Amino acid sequence: MHHFSYKDGVLHAEDVSLTRIAAEVGTPFYCYSTATLERHYKVLAQAFAGQDATICFAVKANSNQAVLATMARLGAGMDVVSEGELRRARAAGVPADKIIFAGVGKSPEEMAYALQEGIFSFNVESEPELVALSEVAANLGVTARVALRVNPDVDAKTHAKISTGKSENKFGIPYLKAVALYNEARELPGLAVQGIHMHIGSQITDLAPFRDAFRLMRDLTLELRREGHDIHHLDIGGGLGVPYRGSNDVPPHPDEYAALVKETLGDLDAKLYLEPGRMIVGNAGILVVRTLFAKEGAGKRFTIVDGAMNDLIRPTLYEAYHEVWPVQEARASEPPVLQDIVGPVCETGDYLAVERKLPPFEAGDVMAVMTAGAYGAVMSSTYNTRLLVPEVLVNGRDYAVVRPRPSYDDLIGLDRLPPWLA
Ligand code: LLP
Repeated sequence: MHHFSYKDGVLHAEDVSLTRIAAEVGTPFYCYSTATLERHYKVLAQAFAGQDATICFAVKANSNQAVLATMARLGAGMDVVSEGELRRARAAGVPADKIIFAGVGKSPEEMAYALQEGIFSFNVESEPELVALSEVAANLGVTARVALRVNPDVDAKTHAKISTGKSENKFGIPYLKAVALYNEARELPGLAVQGIHMHIGSQITDLAPFRDAFRLMRDLTLELRREGHDIHHLDIGGGLGVPYRGSNDVPPHPDEYAALVKETLGDLDAKLYLEPGRMIVGNAGILVVRTLFAKEGAGKRFTIVDGAMNDLIRPTLYEAYHEVWPVQEARASEPPVLQDIVGPVCETGDYLAVERKLPPFEAGDVMAVMTAGAYGAVMSSTYNTRLLVPEVLVNGRDYAVVRPRPSYDDLIGLDRLPPWLA
């Protein structure tokens, strides 16, 4: 469910016309809906109402300060994977004790910064990382709370590049080596090992892999407790998918997911942590682009728009499918034409949609690339010296530019000439 819909023939974000924003901000731009963000958070929170669960929004999915502040006001914690994300979460008003620091490669400086901030817990992914964290914490004279990320060797049945829970993936500690590492961790100074973390992948549309992973998590919790470990928090990761193809792909409802968690982990008397990214912000955002030219190729049409792979890399990187909606509703009633929606970047892989039957867009037509709120703006770049795409947040009848388009001077001015060329 999202709050992008046609009103008087024009696509709106909540009560604001996208034609208006396109005229005032210029294209391309990302547009987020507050009502959609809030709805998704609340649906998930409601689903877990009977369980002791903290929702830590995965900042990597969308790290705009306005999005994070919206989440923070709802009471969300955050899952961060770098000092930069930790700083963003803190700047948006998230209390340190609701922040989890994940990721396979934390530097000693990042560990020290997070310890000084007093974050809730580190998700540690290897023995050398555990040793490094122990040293940093002991040197600072503090205790790092830790969950070990365990790789359950479960196939999440999602795109290979975003599947993380198979033994061949770089993530986590092999399930069969976990108990030995917990025992070792107990002997290290500066550490309080108190949790288990698993995250098996992203855009998961089937509950079965979650069930397999949660069962293994349950077995491991019981085994570790038998060994005398005080396991009191379980971080069950993120990964719940979103419908990129409207009603044609329906991921499990948060209620079904919560029921599965209750069934598999509910009697362990452990505090639960969730790390959802995409399901909160995915369809709360769109990328709005304008047609520059429509050109007839041999056998299909190319609609060349002003947004490109550097603005939204998902289609070319993961063969991801994003629906395309015309901003002018009337276009949608015209006979569709087979076409690619492509950008100005000099690469054949620069497309937003391939071989789609879409309205016959003409120069000037504005369109929305849907479900682009997660892993959209955060993965954008300035390739081809294109300016980072601005971001807009809508709230009812209001909107605000929450990241302005930089100037060319801003961008080119980041470079420095060495003395011998100055
Ligand atoms: N927790 C951990 C440890 C993660 O690695 C991730 C995502 C999440 C939580 C949040 O997962 P979500 O709920 O959003 O599925 N750029 C890719 C997705 C990469 C996901 C990376 N990890 C894409 O555009 O599909």
